[in-house]
Amino acid sequence: MDIIFEQAYLFLLFCFILSFFLIFTITRSRSSLKVAPSPPGPPRLPIIGNIHLVGKNPHHSFADLSKTYGPIMSLKFGSLNTVVVSSPEAAREVLRTYDQILSNRSSTNSIRFINHHEVSVVWLPPSSPRWRLLRKLAATQLFSPQRLEATKTLRENKVKELVSFISESSEREEAVDISRATFITALNIISNILFSVDLGSYDSKKFSEFQDTVIGVMESVGKPDAANFFPFLGFLDLQGNRKTLKACSERLFKVFRGFIDAKIAEKSLRNVNPKDVSKRDFVDVLLDLTEGDEAELNTNDIEHLLFDLFGAGTDTNSSTVEWAMAELLRNPEKMGKAQAEIDSVIGQKGVVKESDISELPYLQAVVKETFRLHPAAPLLVPRKAEFDVEVLGFLVPKDAQVLVNVWAIGRDPSVWENPSRFEPERFMGKEIDVRGRDYELTPFGAGRRICPGLPLAVKTVPLMLASLLYSFDWKLPNGVLSEDLDMEESFGLTLHKTNPLHAVPVKKRCLN
Ligand code: HEM
Repeated sequence: MDIIFEQAYLFLLFCFILSFFLIFTITRSRSSLKVAPSPPGPPRLPIIGNIHLVGKNPHHSFADLSKTYGPIMSLKFGSLNTVVVSSPEAAREVLRTYDQILSNRSSTNSIRFINHHEVSVVWLPPSSPRWRLLRKLAATQLFSPQRLEATKTLRENKVKELVSFISESSEREEAVDISRATFITALNIISNILFSVDLGSYDSKKFSEFQDTVIGVMESVGKPDAANFFPFLGFLDLQGNRKTLKACSERLFKVFRGFIDAKIAEKSLRNVNPKDVSKRDFVDVLLDLTEGDEAELNTNDIEHLLFDLFGAGTDTNSSTVEWAMAELLRNPEKMGKAQAEIDSVIGQKGVVKESDISELPYLQAVVKETFRLHPAAPLLVPRKAEFDVEVLGFLVPKDAQVLVNVWAIGRDPSVWENPSRFEPERFMGKEIDVRGRDYELTPFGAGRRICPGLPLAVKTVPLMLASLLYSFDWKLPNGVLSEDLDMEESFGLTLHKTNPLHAVPVKKRCLN
């Protein structure tokens, strides 16, 4: 009895010491967070805080401010606390060390207006089982090495169509709108992977509408909006972002619904004889998940997922190719060097294949250099702090919006030599890559929210670019000199060339 009593006593004593220790550590860490100062930042005006400092190109304004306030900086937009990080070390803290706490999203007024945040892979928090399901589906059914291998010929064929379209323009000695042409290619690659149809056509002007719609989506989500800073103003829709996003999303949902309905009808017809599994596209797989009592998805979820994939996956790819071409046209000797490399590897084969890309290190360096100077999402997609957290000795408060200025990191002279020069050579023989491990170059983000489309983008962008350079020489129209080519940027969620690039193709060889 005595022994039992003694053991119980020791156990209670142990529990007491343990609880004391836990309470002490938690209180200490809380109080140390309380004493952590806010990151430095510019003085704030009453009510609006720092909104007046954002400007047309927030990534430029934030880069300038960080020269004064440092690599972790706090700003206040109305009621929204914002922390902007602008160095590889700070990006590593956000995207790796505190990834778990800083991976929520700050959805925007326009996104909430169409209830997209409740179902979307882009806007749901990682704690949501639905987000995990959607990421898993993307990783296994869309972007796994096996799925990418299965869709390789499709991509190569779509790029061949781009080359033949440009070839017609070259016969007429006409300038090509690179932005539109590459957008149609990126669009058709994605629409075929998703539901086996071409959504874009090079011939018809009417397909510019789809491009405008996708760009409208990106702009209405990415543009500054007073209601993001003062939620009570939401209903006024002062910038018209709600209205634009509603109109654009309805247009896209209508298109998707048409394809989904056609698939459902086709599916019921071939009920007895299911299509060859290897020929099933992504929507076929998603529709399977809508069946039965324990259905994991419904058609509304599928429409929203398609909306995300088209929004995130078309314009990003095509504008990267457009920026690469613009840089090469401004730097003719780099273009010559890339073309010489491609010619030496492909020779007279007549067409570039995806498998050739690994043998083109200079071309890959051109793509990396383009990502460095023109990241498609210059501030990534805004993240949100789930709790208070101390980053590099400063407090990032719960619910603060966290922006990683990858555009500024890419142009920081303390990170890159001659940062404003387009010098693909800087990547030659270096291990540095865009896959989220090198924090000086993270155009796809990193950590749990890293872009799921990265494996597709790193195949599509170099293939399109190499094909354009292999089949054609390029010149600027109307006597524009390469050094005069304008490189003005327009900020949305994706960074565009304000004036789409037009260039005249000159055919180099007969096409296969
Ligand atoms: C050049 C091409 C691309 C670039 C530069 C790019 C960049 C990005 C970036 C920066 C993010 C946010 C990452 C973060 O928060 O840390 C992102 C997210 C995302 N991207 Fe991409 N992307 C590209 C292509 C694609 C493609 C081809 C697809 C799909 C077809 C895609 C689908 C997505 C989705 C669904 C998300 C949201 C993921 C989430 O929040 O969990 N992207 N992308």
